[in-house]
Order: sequence, then structure tokens, then C-alpha cells
Amino acid sequence: MEILVIGSGGREHALCWALSGSPLCGTLYCAPGNAGIAAVAECVEIDAEDLDGVMTLVTAKKIDFVVVGPEAPLVLGLVDRLNSAGVKCFGPTAAAAQLEGSKSFTKQLCAKYDIPTGAYKRFTDVAEATAYIYEKGAPIVVKADGLAAGKGVTVAMSIEEAVAAAEAALVGGRFGAAGASIIVEEFLAGEELSVFAICDGENALMLASAQDHKAAFDGDKGPNTGGMGAYSPAPVMTDSLAVIIEETIVQRTVTAMKAEGMPFTGVLFAGLMITDNGPQLIEFNVRFGDPECQVLMMRLKSDLLSALVAAADEELKDFDLRWHDQTALSVVLAANGYPESYEKGTEICKVDDADGLANTKVFHAGTARVETGELQAVGGRVLNVTALGDSVTEAQKRAYEAVDIIDWPDGFCRRDIGWRAVAREEG
Ligand code: AMP
Ligand code: GLY
Repeated sequence: MEILVIGSGGREHALCWALSGSPLCGTLYCAPGNAGIAAVAECVEIDAEDLDGVMTLVTAKKIDFVVVGPEAPLVLGLVDRLNSAGVKCFGPTAAAAQLEGSKSFTKQLCAKYDIPTGAYKRFTDVAEATAYIYEKGAPIVVKADGLAAGKGVTVAMSIEEAVAAAEAALVGGRFGAAGASIIVEEFLAGEELSVFAICDGENALMLASAQDHKAAFDGDKGPNTGGMGAYSPAPVMTDSLAVIIEETIVQRTVTAMKAEGMPFTGVLFAGLMITDNGPQLIEFNVRFGDPECQVLMMRLKSDLLSALVAAADEELKDFDLRWHDQTALSVVLAANGYPESYEKGTEICKVDDADGLANTKVFHAGTARVETGELQAVGGRVLNVTALGDSVTEAQKRAYEAVDIIDWPDGFCRRDIGWRAVAREEG
């Protein structure tokens, strides 16, 4: 099969790396890709959100199967375009992608189908939002309704902070149209867990669990980012919990979406809080997490491509995937200043030395190779240094050994990825 992957991050590098190993994979293309992806796929300079450009490429290269990495082209309707053109693909339609694109859509679905999630209310008027915040008290959570690149959430520990967040979105236009309406949600206490399932419109195939670290700095401090590291499996996950999550959240949502006339195909990524009342949905994403995908792909033994094609063909029932028992842990190297402003075009050295270590893989996120052959950082999150180990402690040690080989004075990373899980192992 001629395959096209859409996207340019570490997630897409991990997907391309896994797909390129498939016996079913012919030429692998990636649009637009990055310097690391170029080692396993032919990169084509078309932006992930340039739907016309993607459609032209699909025809020109006679692509048999398209895998969409990021949410933006999904929400824009890339899968709808591919479906209309009769091109097989993996990812949800724009209607099904509302599970990520609209928090109020998801909240209404949860209410209708009894999917456990925190109590909430939606507002467009700041006075009404403020009154509700005062009525409920803190801690309380304020979220932009639409897509805000993972930065639309304020977990407010005081009423003042919550009101300020509501004002910034509704009056200050902080998130543009995405924040023209907000959700004010009950604060959920517990431990966080992310689960992933591949869905074919009717059936959900649960993947391994994973956990990321969203805060920029050690000790989970600093501003929220897209994710500064991740590990899989997540020790919070147990067999009994997996059964409850699959039944009450994942499969129930897939069944609900089918009943609503917008069957969900693709990756359903559920961010959960494990509370005293059981697992509660925090949010859905309609794609693999980044960097969660990197750790999942390191652990996946089975052929990824077969699974994604089975999902597209509505044949996931009784499909099975095998995983390495080992833990995979990924450390994100980001440009100094991320998630605020940062410099582009700085040189990175010795990445191949780190990548050459046993049980280690360096996935590229924001990198480009310039004419001189120099590897440059061109994004906020730049590299994902990923390692396997028999324990979280061992995987963490290996990942940081590789991190320490890489020579990039203009980048930084957290030094404590996996700390909760390491602390558990130390008992
Ligand atoms: P989200 O973008 O919705 O995943 O939210 C980002 C982060 O905010 C989550 O990973 C949680 O750490 C936190 N968060 C979101 N909603 C809640 C909630 N209702 N209660 C507590 N923490 C939350
Ligand atoms: N790492 C979280 C996300 O991909 O949304």
C-alpha cells in the first residue's frame, strides 16, 4: 500500500517509524514531516491544514491509505474529503471530531448517554459565568469551549483566578473564537490517566495506557504545555479499572456516536481523572497524544498498519494487539522559552549518537535539516528522547543518558519525567 501520514511532530515520526516496518507498507509519504521523519518516509512540503494540497498529493501519488496525525485537519474535514474521494483513511470525520473540537458537544453527549464526567455549565456572558463561579466556589475549572492548543484550561484554586480566566476568554478574547464560549466545570480530585482506543465506528480496541506531564518545569510547575514527557504503561491502570473505563467511557461513547449518526473512526484518546467515585472523563481527543504516541509505539509489538486498516474497514471486532511488557518513557527536549516565545534555527548536535544507544529511540518533533546538513530546531517541542526499560526507573535512566549525549545549548527538558511512577517503584 502507498501510505500518506499527515503531520510534522514527534507523534507523526513515531507513527511513520512504526508504519515503515509493516510488511504491507509500500512507499511511505509524510506531509509535511520533519528531519527525523525524512529517514523513514518521503517528506512532501504540504501543510497539514492545506486540504486542497493534500487531496492533490493523494491523487498524484496514488495513495491507498491516509493516516491523519493532528486534530486540526480532522476538525477541518480532511477525512470527509478523503471519504468523498473514495480514499481509505484513518481518522474521524469533522462531525465525529467534535468530541475534541467542542467541549460543550462532548458534555452534552456525556449527559445524554450517562458517560461519567464532572458537572458543568456553558457560558458566553461573563456576568453569568462570574455568578456561577461565586455560587460554586473554588477550586473550579474554566475551559475555552473550542480548540485552544491545549492551553485553554485554567484549574483555578481561587474564585478570583477563575473569574479572571473567564474574563480573559469572554471579554479579553484570549483564545479568539475558541474562547467565545466557556465551560465552567467541577474540580475533580484524583490521579490522572490517559487511555487510547482505536475505533472503527462501532467497536473500540483499547490500547496500552499512558501518562504525560503537561507542566513545563520540574515538579509539575510552570505553564501548561502540549506535554513535556510521557510513559507507558501508567501504574494507576489496573485490569479492573480498564474494564470499567472501556465499558462506561470508551465503548459507551463509540456506541453513542453511532446512535447520533456520526460514527467515530480513529483514535479516541480519553483524559481521565481517577476519583473516589471511579473514572471521570476530563476530555476527549480524537487523535494520538503527543508524546504519548511515542511511548505507545515503542511498546507495540503488533503491526500498526494492519490495525489502522482494520479500523478503516470496520473490522476491529476480535482484532488483537500485542505489547512489550517493558515500560517506555519519553523526555521532550524543547526550545528555551517554550511554551512562550522561543528562538528558531539553533543547531542541535549528536542526536544520532543518542539514537544509536540500545533500547533508545529519538523521535523528532520540530527539526529541519538545512543544506549544510546541520540539524536545526524549528519548533517549540523539538525532540522526544524515548527509551524502554524493565521498570520506569530503568527506562527513565536510559532516556536521560541519551538526553545527556545530545548537544543543544538552546534547549531544555524536565529532569523528572515519570517521577510519580518512580516514587511508587521505590515504595
Ligand atoms: P484538558 O485540556 O481538558 O485535558 O485539561 C488540562 C489539564 O487540566 C488536565 O490534564 C487536568 O490536569 C486539568 N483539569 C482539566 N479539567 C479538570 C477538572 N475538572 N478537575 C481537575 N483538573 C482538571
Ligand atoms: N500530550 C497531550 C496531548 O497530546 O494532547
